[in-house]
Amino acid sequence: MSKKAFITGANKGIGYETARQLAARGMTVLIGARDPELGQAATDKLRAEGADAHFIQIDVADEESVARAAARIEKDFGALDVLVNNAAITGGLEGDGKASSGTLATLRHVYGTNVFGLVAVTNALLPLLRRAEAARIVNVSSEVGSLAGRTDPDSPLSQMPSAIPYTASKTTVNMVTVLYALELRDTPIKVNAANPGYTATDLNGHSGFRTPEQGAEPSVHLATLPADGPTGTFWGHVWGSDRYALLDW
Ligand SMILES: NC(=O)c1ccc[n+]([C@@H]2O[C@H](COP(=O)([O-])OP(=O)(O)OC[C@H]3O[C@@H](n4cnc5c(N)ncnc54)[C@H](OP(=O)(O)O)[C@@H]3O)[C@@H](O)[C@H]2O)c1
Repeated sequence: MSKKAFITGANKGIGYETARQLAARGMTVLIGARDPELGQAATDKLRAEGADAHFIQIDVADEESVARAAARIEKDFGALDVLVNNAAITGGLEGDGKASSGTLATLRHVYGTNVFGLVAVTNALLPLLRRAEAARIVNVSSEVGSLAGRTDPDSPLSQMPSAIPYTASKTTVNMVTVLYALELRDTPIKVNAANPGYTATDLNGHSGFRTPEQGAEPSVHLATLPADGPTGTFWGHVWGSDRYALLDW
């Protein structure tokens, strides 16, 4: 029986590519998207390429929607082998884009999706992940949320002016990843954070220098870790290189 992978925000960008690459490895992919038309269109496109893809409607920022999606996955698939928490928003540019210029409304909105949404989805699906033989949870993070990078004067990340919402949400995603990994360390479930690298998608007006195919590679790697693979790590693209490595939190 094929493994089942659920990817949030899979109708486009890195999430879509993650689904495509996991399907190419023989997994059944559950395409999480908030917009039914976009979600179904992405699912149809993957099915036309031969993928066993199924659309699951989910707005990660809406607890009832998350509960409905979890119930649907349980009813139709019973267990879940892979969860990729990929959906996220930036909150857009406010003022001059520096730390002090954002509004609390935007901070709440971005955390509602990137942090509260990720936790809601993980908690709702954990019972199904526990039913799988050895589940993998991938939280799609970003190097921009690395405290080590931000505080290293030699790192380009310390030179990057950034608003609080998106950046701090990814720092929180990193801590959330560690906390789930610690809770689940005596189980076969592995929980890791992925860094796609700066990737050309709608998220950044396609200014990234990596392709979505490349951006999906860290998530796919962590979603398919072997039994002796790591848990509670931050792994992915190394800024300014063509390498992947363990990253400093
Ligand atoms: N692109 C980069 O350079 C980069 C770098 C580091 C990390 N990342 C991370 O990679 C992940 C994917 O980003 P991307 O670049 O592929 O961005 P993207 O093209 O904008 O895709 C984001 C996806 O998330 C979905 N989404 C947003 N809010 C949602 C919600 N409340 N419920 C369900 N789905 C929701 C979007 O759905 P709609 O189509 O309905 O909006 C879309 O499918 C994110 O976690 C992002 O932070 C990206």
